[in-house]
Amino acid sequence: MNVRSGTERGGPIGIFDSGLGGLTVYHAIRSKLPQYDYCYLGDTARTPYGSRSFDTIYRYTLQGVKALFEQGCPLLILACNTASAKALRTIQQRDLPQYFPGRRVLGVIRPSVERVGTLSQSRKVGLFGTSGTVRSESYVLEFRKLFPDLVLYQEACPMWVPLVENNETATPAAEYFVRRHVDALMDREPDIDTIILACTHYPLLLPLIRKFVPGNVQIVNQGPEVAERLEDYLQRHPEIEKQCLKNSRQRFLTTGTAEEFESLAAAFFPEPLNAEHIELG
Ligand code: DGL
Repeated sequence: MNVRSGTERGGPIGIFDSGLGGLTVYHAIRSKLPQYDYCYLGDTARTPYGSRSFDTIYRYTLQGVKALFEQGCPLLILACNTASAKALRTIQQRDLPQYFPGRRVLGVIRPSVERVGTLSQSRKVGLFGTSGTVRSESYVLEFRKLFPDLVLYQEACPMWVPLVENNETATPAAEYFVRRHVDALMDREPDIDTIILACTHYPLLLPLIRKFVPGNVQIVNQGPEVAERLEDYLQRHPEIEKQCLKNSRQRFLTTGTAEEFESLAAAFFPEPLNAEHIELG
């Protein structure tokens, strides 16, 4: 890989997602830290990642990471839970030291776990995620490490991403599938007092999720947590922070067509945007 090991001239903060859903996380980051430049890359041509194998998700994510490093990003956020669950650890432990020393990649799992660990009183926590995220057990492992007293109940919701992507969030079909998974989770453990929305798309189903989740249960939406932890990370790592350009510029790259990205992005991101096509490989 012929990517420079450092970013001598600095660059944007990179945001990677399997598609458009990561725009929910990016929106929260940009609202909190508007001074930085950002480069968002959505692998919309190959989305969704949620039901793919470990090897495929790792390979696709590494290609995205490499492409963002080629844009000069000193620091990347994997906004995608599935990619964070299945590829982040290998990229951090194996690929960064070997190919990209000096660059950093962060995920969305640890910020969410840290937040939930301090919120839950009953120490019984629920999680909604894609099949890939649930099967990876990444959240289970992170909780075991940071909050071993806490019990996590996971519920895979394979229909929720397609519902959001097809703009079906306010339909009887969405009601049916949201209620079904909320009931399944709460039936398993009625003392759950905190639930993580461990998928980029689920904030768009929040009104429905709230409708069916008991009123005392707190719902953790990842965007603001990730934004807060990023701010904290940048304060604690001035050597990375000084490489992050601060002209408030943003670029959007997609492996699909720019037109499709621009029109579908509206559901996830409140500003009009211009996208550019990129090939990964
Ligand atoms: N971005 C993915 C996540 O957060 C959801 C979409 C997909 O399955 O690729 O898990």
